[in-house]
Formats: sequence, C-alpha cells, structure tokens
Amino acid sequence: MTTPRLIRACRHEVLDRPPVWFMRQAGRYMSEYQAIRSKATFLELCKNVDLATEVSLQPFKAFGVDAVIMFSDILIPPEAMGMSLEFTDGKGPVFHDPLRSVAQLDALKMPDVHESMGFVFEILKQLRRELESSPETALIGFSGAPWTLASYMIEGGTSRNFMYLKQWMYNEPEALHRLLGMLTTLVEQYMSAQIEAGAQMVQLFDTWGGLLDEAGYRTFIQPYEARIIKTLQTKYPDTPVTLYVGGSSHMLSAVAETQPDVLSVDWRTDLKTVRNIVQPVAPNRVLQGNLDPTAMTVEPDVLKGLVETTLHAGGNQNYIFNVGHGLIPQTPRENVQRVVDWVKESAKTPATCSL
Ligand code: CP3
Repeated sequence: MTTPRLIRACRHEVLDRPPVWFMRQAGRYMSEYQAIRSKATFLELCKNVDLATEVSLQPFKAFGVDAVIMFSDILIPPEAMGMSLEFTDGKGPVFHDPLRSVAQLDALKMPDVHESMGFVFEILKQLRRELESSPETALIGFSGAPWTLASYMIEGGTSRNFMYLKQWMYNEPEALHRLLGMLTTLVEQYMSAQIEAGAQMVQLFDTWGGLLDEAGYRTFIQPYEARIIKTLQTKYPDTPVTLYVGGSSHMLSAVAETQPDVLSVDWRTDLKTVRNIVQPVAPNRVLQGNLDPTAMTVEPDVLKGLVETTLHAGGNQNYIFNVGHGLIPQTPRENVQRVVDWVKESAKTPATCSL
C-alpha cells in the first residue's frame, strides 16, 4: 500500500523533497470556491457534504498539493454545543449570545459528536473515497484547540484586546477551567471520530494560544493541548497529531513540551532556531511551516527567494512545507501554483540537510 508523502515525512523518512500543502488552502482566493460560495452561505457550505467535498478537493485538483484538508471551520463544535453562530461578510464569525456569565456556561450542552456533527465525518468518508486513486495524497482533519474556541465563544467573534476572555481568566479562573475542560473532552471525541472516518493526520489550531505569557500558557492552554495530543496518540498511534500555536515564539519550548508529532510554526522564528529550541524538549520532531502568508502575495522573483530560504532551513527530513498561518484572500492563485511547483522541483536539486 502506498503511504502518502506527508505521512512518510511524519515517520521521519528522508525524502527527495518535503510534502507541501497550505493552511486555509481552500477559499476565497480561488474562483472555483467563489462560484460555489455564491450559491450558499459559508455555514451551508460546511454542512453540505457534496459541496464541502468538492471545495476541499479544489486546491488539490488545481495545484497538486500533497494533502487535502477537509473543508469546515473550527467554530462548528461550539455551534453544536448550542451557541448560535453566523458568518458575516464584514466581521467574520459572530456568536449572537457570547458566553458572559457562569449561568450561560451551565446551560451549554455536551453534544453527541455523531448526532450533531455527523456531516463532518461524512465529508471525510467521501474525501477518502475520492482520494482512493491518489494514494500519495493525505487527508487532514482538524479542530480548534480549547483556548481558541473559548476565545470566540466568550468574545463573540474576532477580537482586538480579548477583554472578556481575559476578564474570565482573572476574575473567574475556575469557570474558565471548567469551560476549557468541557471543550477538551469534546475536541478529543471530535478528533477521534474524524480519524475513524478516515483522516490520516489531524491538526489542532490554537490560533490565539500566543496571547499569554509562558506562565499563563502553562496554566490555561498547555495542559489542555497536551491532554488532547496524548489521548489521540494513545488511541491512534499511527495518526500524526499536529499542533499550531499562533504567536508563540516567546515560549516555543513550553509548546514543544506538549509532544505533538508535528509542530506547525508561524514566521516569527526561523526554522533553524525553532529546531534548536525544540530538540532538547521534543527530540526528532517534525516541523511544519513557516512562510509568511503575506509573502504569497508578492512579486514571483521575491517570493521564490523566500521559498528557497524556507526550503533550505526545513530540509528533506522532519519537515513539511507550509505557510506560517492561513492563506489570505488576496493571494494570487498563480503564486500558489508557483510555490507548489518550486517545492516539487526542489527534488531535482541536491538535498539540503536540516540538522
Ligand atoms: O484550511 C482549509 O482550507 C480548510 C478550511 C478552514 C477554514 N477555516 C475555512 C474558512 C480551516 C482549517 C479553518 C480554521 C479556522 N477558522 C481558524 C484557525 C486557523 C486560522 O486561520 O487561524 C480560525 C481562527 C477560524 C475562524 C474563522 N473562520 C474566521 C476568523 C473567519 C473569518 C475570516 C475569514 O477568513 O473570512 C472564518 C471564515 C472562514 N473559514 C472562511 C473559510 C474558507 C471564509 C468564509 C467565506 O467564504 O465567507
């Protein structure tokens, strides 16, 4: 049986080139996406198994990336807990009744993942069927991490100062821990069901995990990430678990202590420095990243230099080429194609060494 390149990278194989895919690779920068999106709201798209399958496959069909990430959003589980969610065109996601009191926390339900989010697992099953004839391509599932989910649930959307979240943290730490514990249990069940439906790798997105100092991270974020990672690794030892903690350069060693199989890093620290910090706490780890997504919008010759620097730092072992955060809607699709081609062409040049 052919093992996807991405999974071989996670097994520490030395490859002729690293696998390449992009966080937020499906979306508005693609006209194919916009054509489908013009007929349905974003949430309708997430819940329509055929359309979500089609959208997930668009970047693979267009650019030949090495992995397909299921099309969905990290805010589907909070909606399943009973929170009313809307994606607006101007302000992004909005929860109409954000969590602002302990009484509201008591009213949250722990949903049955299959009953409330069955469509997600159907999307994964359908994607695995579609990818049967492309066994080199991996299928990725994902979830938001508890801290980032809590931030949206409490703030009610994207935030500048995260005042409500931080008020909970300082005024009601026990209530916040209760919420984070509930979310951890839900995320464990949700990601387990994704693996059982066919996800070959799963990624935990802690987009706002870098908001706190290291002591805060160790109190409110790290234990929950570590628990999810441990649970999944114990239940599914063959399925790599990736952790992305946005803006965490000031505490990478603490992040690495959660022992993910793959550590996905943003552009704020170069990959060689990341390796040196991670190696003593989590030896032989796979790194993923870390091209600045904004660089995907610049002149091709400038972009090429940045991709080469990233490839050189990453190397051909223990490395997955990706951006340091999701692709932005202004990304010219030609640049996505170029970057995929450059990474693939790097197989023809002599291997660089990562360590
Ligand atoms: O990677 C992929 O291609 C899979 C799809 C995916 C989406 N969201 C689709 C999406 C993934 C993995 C996510 C994760 C996600 N969602 C995160 C974590 C990663 C990150 O970017 O930090 C976060 C924080 C969210 C929450 C979210 N969803 C926001 C803040 C927004 C609004 C901003 C924006 O880009 O519009 C969304 C909407 C969203 N999620 C869109 C897509 C394609 C755009 C919706 C549209 O078509 O109108």
